[in-house]
Amino acid sequence: MISGKARLAGVMGWPVSHSQSPRLHGFWLDRYAIDGAYVPLPVEPENFEAALRALPKLGFAGVNVTVPHKEAALGLVDEVDPVARQIGAVNTIVVKEDGALAGFNTDAFGFMENLLQTCKTPPVLDRPAVVLGAGGAARAVLASLIDFGVPEIHIVNRTIERAEALSQSFDGPLRVQDWKNLDQALEGAGLLVNTTSLGMTGKPPLEISLGTLPTDAVVYDIVYSPLKTSLLEAAEVRGNMTIDGLGMLLHQARSGFEKWFGTLPEVDDELRQHVLKGLNG
Ligand code: ATR
Repeated sequence: MISGKARLAGVMGWPVSHSQSPRLHGFWLDRYAIDGAYVPLPVEPENFEAALRALPKLGFAGVNVTVPHKEAALGLVDEVDPVARQIGAVNTIVVKEDGALAGFNTDAFGFMENLLQTCKTPPVLDRPAVVLGAGGAARAVLASLIDFGVPEIHIVNRTIERAEALSQSFDGPLRVQDWKNLDQALEGAGLLVNTTSLGMTGKPPLEISLGTLPTDAVVYDIVYSPLKTSLLEAAEVRGNMTIDGLGMLLHQARSGFEKWFGTLPEVDDELRQHVLKGLNG
């Protein structure tokens, strides 16, 4: 139940009906008995700037921003957090007391929090990591791994030029590798992350050989539909610890919730099952 003093947040996207964020934040509002609401805000690209500017006037504490607005948001907010600038996209906005809009990106936080909650063995992060892909998702993963202090990060991408451009835009121990040298990059690695869209429902599977990857390495697929991709299946068969992408989605949301509602919420199995039910329609 909400009162007339309820704090307001939501998610702006177009379309937004597929978003699990209202379900996710609604669960936390209920769990922590917070007087607040989190609503879907379908906003067409041509109305995005006006909708953002209306947030302070409507009394919103802030919003999440999703496809297709995340890059546009970076240029429209009044202040950009350095991590969001490095990733090149804003997914979380806070309305400040004076009405200014502050933009953040919580994907790097979500990626690492999920990794640490699931594997609890950061020693794998003392070894080189291998990141497959060079798109927007790879940027968040790289920001997170560099910030954590992973000693060496190999970026492997079908289009090597994209991996090179990505590598140059970060200050960290990055090495670009050709896809055909993946076997070598995997030797001695502590972590393999898939950030490509391969393996996602409706996309071709990611077909790589894990033969040279140590069996104590962690394999992390940021794809969450399906939950168990063929990469994770192959990793599980050879005994590698695996992490699916749903946890990253849940953990990245914690940061916005804390900024708007004042409580850093927990991710547990009950929440996972609740959001999975929404994902499965
Ligand atoms: P996102 O922002 O979600 O990361 P993106 O920017 O479109 O999405 O990036 C998709 C990633 O998946 C890229 O690394 C892309 O490789 P290219 O840079 O070579 O395009 C990768 N990817 C998509 N389809 C692929 C395929 N069939 N084989 C190999 N890599 C693929």
